This record gives sequence, structure tokens and C-alpha cells, in this order.
Amino acid sequence: MEIIGGPASQLLAGRVSEILKNNLLVSEFKKFPDGELYTRVLDKFSGDNVTIIQSTVTDSDFVSLLQLIDACSDVSRVNVVIPYMGYARQDKQFKSGEPVSSRAIARAIKADTVYTINIHDESVMDHFDAKAVNLDATPVIGKYIKNLELKDPLIISPDDGAIGLAQNASKDMGIDYDFLEKTRLSGETVSIKPKNLAVKGRDVIILDDIISTGGTMAQTITLLRSQGAHDVYTACVHPVLSNNAVLKLFKAGVKAIIATDTIDKGVSVVSAAPVVAEAVRKI
Ligand code: R5P
Repeated sequence: MEIIGGPASQLLAGRVSEILKNNLLVSEFKKFPDGELYTRVLDKFSGDNVTIIQSTVTDSDFVSLLQLIDACSDVSRVNVVIPYMGYARQDKQFKSGEPVSSRAIARAIKADTVYTINIHDESVMDHFDAKAVNLDATPVIGKYIKNLELKDPLIISPDDGAIGLAQNASKDMGIDYDFLEKTRLSGETVSIKPKNLAVKGRDVIILDDIISTGGTMAQTITLLRSQGAHDVYTACVHPVLSNNAVLKLFKAGVKAIIATDTIDKGVSVVSAAPVVAEAVRKI
């Protein structure tokens, strides 16, 4: 199998090919004078079996993914890994007249197999025509947390949607977990229901699938610190970290931000490459 790394996932694609000792194909990504994207796979490929790895963080990333898939039209088997899939949070019609954006994106992606990682809602997987598999990067986050040698650590999920993540990350690690209840008030603001947690003097890791504006994490950090938590860490699979999210988290008193390389950021200290490699190795 050959691996093509898209512009948004070069590090992860490189790490996957390093684990699998597979051929990593180099592509060129440029822009035309009018702003349209130009993509070309520079290395020759055998044409049998190719895996494209490309997160769709921005609209341009999505176009790049479509271009790479099209560039592989003559390849017998095309697998697509979308480590972070943009628009996945619009997984239903919240108001009349809205599209289910995640469905629109999924329907446009034509491949033999599609992999995502901790997609916001599993229901999105049904919208792909291809066989679609959602991978779980929380065990690698759990391993990282375990190695931090924290003081009586506790993993907290900031809302009930992330309880499964906290459970998976703590599994086999001997770490406790608990959860909070969140109500989203707007795109930028949330309200976390006060709850007494056993955090006094303990190091706490708040784990979520995505940190976007940082509003959820900042509020949770403030709540946990007011209850006497020792060091508070935030961990997520997808560090979207839009606008001033990082500043908000440090202002709220975070000790460190832990994230994976589904989106390549300075805080991407955990690699999802072993998870992807394990999945595509079987193809
Ligand atoms: C939403 O349900 C997700 O799991 C995250 O909690 C959310 O996307 C985080 O967004 P923000 O960082 O903007 O609060």
C-alpha cells in the first residue's frame, strides 16, 4: 500500500508510513493566481492500493481531499483517512432550512473505505457510500496521561457526550473518571452545571473530542479550580483551537494542553499514527 499525505495531515501521514514502512508519496500543493487550489501527486504510484490521509479542518482542506481522490482515479483501491472531519458537528438539522452539513461532506467523498477518528457523532458514518470506520484515539491519550505521573489523577468529561471518551481513556489505566453537564448557549458560550466532584488536591484531566473556541474547557477549568483541584490539564483528540482559545485556557489556569496530531498544532503531543496504522495495515 502507498500513502498520500494531504496538506493538512503531513505529519500524521509521515508517522503512519514510518510505522508501516510503506511508501509515502510526495505531492505538490499550490494556488492559482485566482486562489483556486492546484494539487499534484509528484511520486509515481503503482496503482493498486493507496491510502490518502487528509484532515478537513478548512474548506480548502476539503477541496484538497477531493482533488487527491480524483488524482487516484486509476488506482484499483482508494482508502481515505479523515483524521479530523470538519462540519461533523452539524450532524442534524437544528433549524428548518439548514443542511445536514456532515451528510453533504460525507456524500461527496467517494472511496473504497473511509476512516475517521473520534468523529463528533457516529451517525455521520452512515452518510458515506463507502464502508466507514470510526477509530478511537483515546487509548493513546490515556497512555500519555498515565506516563505523566500525576497526583491521584481523575479524568473529567465536560459533558455527557464525552463520557465514552473518558471511559475509554481511563480503561486499563487504573484512572478514575467522572462527568459534568453542559448546555450550549451560543457558538462561543456554554453553561456548566455546578456539581461537587472529588477533585480536592488531585490532578484533573478534562477530556473532550474537540477544543474549538475553548469556552467549554475554560469554564470547566474554572469550576474545578474553585473546588480545590491541584493541576488541571485539558486533553482532546482534535485541537481546533480557533481564535484565542489557547489564551483562554491559560487565563483560566490550565497546566498544559494535551492533544493528538489529527490536527497538527504545537499542542499535538500524542500521535494518532499507531491507531491509523493498525487500522489500515489490515487492508
Ligand atoms: C461539543 O459537544 C464538543 O464535544 C465540544 O465540547 C465542543 O466542540 C467544544 O467547543 P468549544 O471549545 O467551542 O467550547
